[in-house]
Amino acid sequence: MKALSWIAAPLWPLQLASGQKSFRANPLIGSAALNRLGLHLARVRIAERMAEARRTQLGSRIDADLRAGYERDGFLVIENALPAEDFAALRRDLEEAPVRSWERREGSTVTRRGSLDLPDIRGRAPLERLVANPLMADLLRYVAGCGGEPLIHLQTVLAEGDAARPDPQNSLHMDTFHSTAKAWLYLQDVRHEDGPLLYVPGSHRATLERLHWERDLSIRAAQDPDPEIAAGSFRIGEEMLASLGYPEPRAMVVPANTLVVANTHGFHARKASQRPTSRSEIYGSLRRNPFLPFTGFHVRSLPGLKGRLSTRQAQIEAVLSQLGAKGPWAEVPPKRIADPASI
Ligand SMILES: [Fe+2]
Repeated sequence: MKALSWIAAPLWPLQLASGQKSFRANPLIGSAALNRLGLHLARVRIAERMAEARRTQLGSRIDADLRAGYERDGFLVIENALPAEDFAALRRDLEEAPVRSWERREGSTVTRRGSLDLPDIRGRAPLERLVANPLMADLLRYVAGCGGEPLIHLQTVLAEGDAARPDPQNSLHMDTFHSTAKAWLYLQDVRHEDGPLLYVPGSHRATLERLHWERDLSIRAAQDPDPEIAAGSFRIGEEMLASLGYPEPRAMVVPANTLVVANTHGFHARKASQRPTSRSEIYGSLRRNPFLPFTGFHVRSLPGLKGRLSTRQAQIEAVLSQLGAKGPWAEVPPKRIADPASI
């Protein structure tokens, strides 16, 4: 075992009560013996119960029909999410003026992150109106089942459509062992050939068969040759879904100005593109410690962090990179949404 891992050893038991999901980085979480005794399943079930309790508290801000849709499917689809004029102005702004950007590559796909931090968008009314709109943040909190400050930025996914260099996001997977939410407000129409989000309806809920499958996988996950599984992001073949009691995945083929919010504890993937495509969206995500008994205080709400999360994240990554832990994101020149990738 690497020296660094032993330095972290005192944290291993504490991490059992955190969002730590890696079966390889934490030998307790990865222990075959403990997982045979039900450690992984206990974390899954306690986390789900606690998320349910917090979600009940958060539900008062969400319409009843949206809550019912989430309960059934694990995701929400809201067409015409912004007033038409606001949406047109938002898209025009992002087509015409560049924003601070970072890019990362996974296989043949480049993902670009654009800052919507308050200092970066000052004076750009359509963007200021967007970040002041609470809809995406409220839904992220409800679906994730936790309070707190979501990370929201502009995202452009540039897929080169090269099957020889697969993207790990193309296989059906769960992000982690507990409720966590992602949101996409699409700036263009998303067609079948554009690599839409796939989601297995109802897979945010465990079936008995799902729990058996997770238990089996948890026993051998630390040794799994797939690094994503060893890191706690379990993959599943489409042919297995029926045996776990789930239907086929649904593709989010939707018009521009549609907001999709999904609990990515459920099985999902980015459908592989058969040809080069570029898709832009306002993207949000929220994940917190699943064992928090409250929906309140979040360090990201503190002055200096709120409204500046993209900048702070880039600063942390720059420090880590100087310490030799180079992250996947590279700062690139400011970009408009139709601009090509730089990496
Ligand atoms: Fe994912």
